[in-house]
Amino acid sequence: MDQAEELRRMVQSRAKLARVLAITSGKGGVGKSNVAVNLAIASAALGKRVILIDMDLGLANADVILNVNSRYNLSHVVAGKKSLEETLVRAPGNVILAPGASGIGRLADLTDSERANLLKGIEHLQRRADLLIVDTGAGISKNVTGFLACADEVLVVTTPEPTAIVDAYAVIKTIAHEEDHGDIRLVVNMVTNAKEGQTCAANLVAVARRFLNAYIEYAGCVVQDARVSQAVKRRRPFLLEYPTCEASRCVRELAQRLVKQNARVPAVEVSERPSFLARLAGLFRTDMAVTGDL
Ligand SMILES: Nc1ncnc2c1ncn2[C@@H]1O[C@H](COP(=O)(O)OP(=O)(O)O)[C@@H](O)[C@H]1O
Ligand SMILES: [Mg+2]
Repeated sequence: MDQAEELRRMVQSRAKLARVLAITSGKGGVGKSNVAVNLAIASAALGKRVILIDMDLGLANADVILNVNSRYNLSHVVAGKKSLEETLVRAPGNVILAPGASGIGRLADLTDSERANLLKGIEHLQRRADLLIVDTGAGISKNVTGFLACADEVLVVTTPEPTAIVDAYAVIKTIAHEEDHGDIRLVVNMVTNAKEGQTCAANLVAVARRFLNAYIEYAGCVVQDARVSQAVKRRRPFLLEYPTCEASRCVRELAQRLVKQNARVPAVEVSERPSFLARLAGLFRTDMAVTGDL
């Protein structure tokens, strides 16, 4: 590669902002964190520079699943003591983790300046990676779904249980009501087989289309697999501990589909949609310092 080409490549890569993929659910315990961690590893294996941000401010546990110790976490970031970048730790599977902090409340509870500290950090990380995977908490609150709607895509995780599906529908409804929301995709976790995932997704997709006029896409399923819980107990992501298990196969397929979907998005559409941070700034309508950088 000659020097000019190298320079062009560097400029292009610097200008490129990572896609923000938020992972959420209506109900807790449906497997968000496991999907987030293992999807991050599978995407990294496909050559993406992936940063996983554990933003479940209530029950952060990506660091537990990945067995990494961190000195700093999101609580230091929101308090303005550390930048988000300073909290980053290397995790297994070529993933970089921004560790979460449990019990600091919800995104909605943060003060304007605390939230600005966090968002400034996210914008900075968008220049360092290809993909930011954000593990968010479960449930619906106005600001959290507003935040979700700002992501380029939201993966809503559900299980085939009616309670989880009803809660997933409620989350989809709130995101779909937000103006200019990103793509909404569905992952059905803990299915008996692929057919069950498809049936469950087909129903939800049809109901969302009919009653919410919302187009959601089925991203795929992950089967119920005893290896998942075994891996959690061994504190290793299942994709690394049991790479040939059924759940690992499902997550690899999911990553492939999501990465391909990203590649399919025409450049013009991406540039027409305001950046993640511009949308966030609009959402919170605060005088965040970050808006000056947009
Ligand atoms: N595909 C799966 N098969 C079997 N068990 C699973 C699967 N996905 C998640 N689990 C189990 O469910 C529990 C909750 O998962 P977790 O990722 O922590 O959910 P959430 O982040 O939504 O609260 C985990 O401890 C794990 O053992
Ligand atoms: Mg979780």
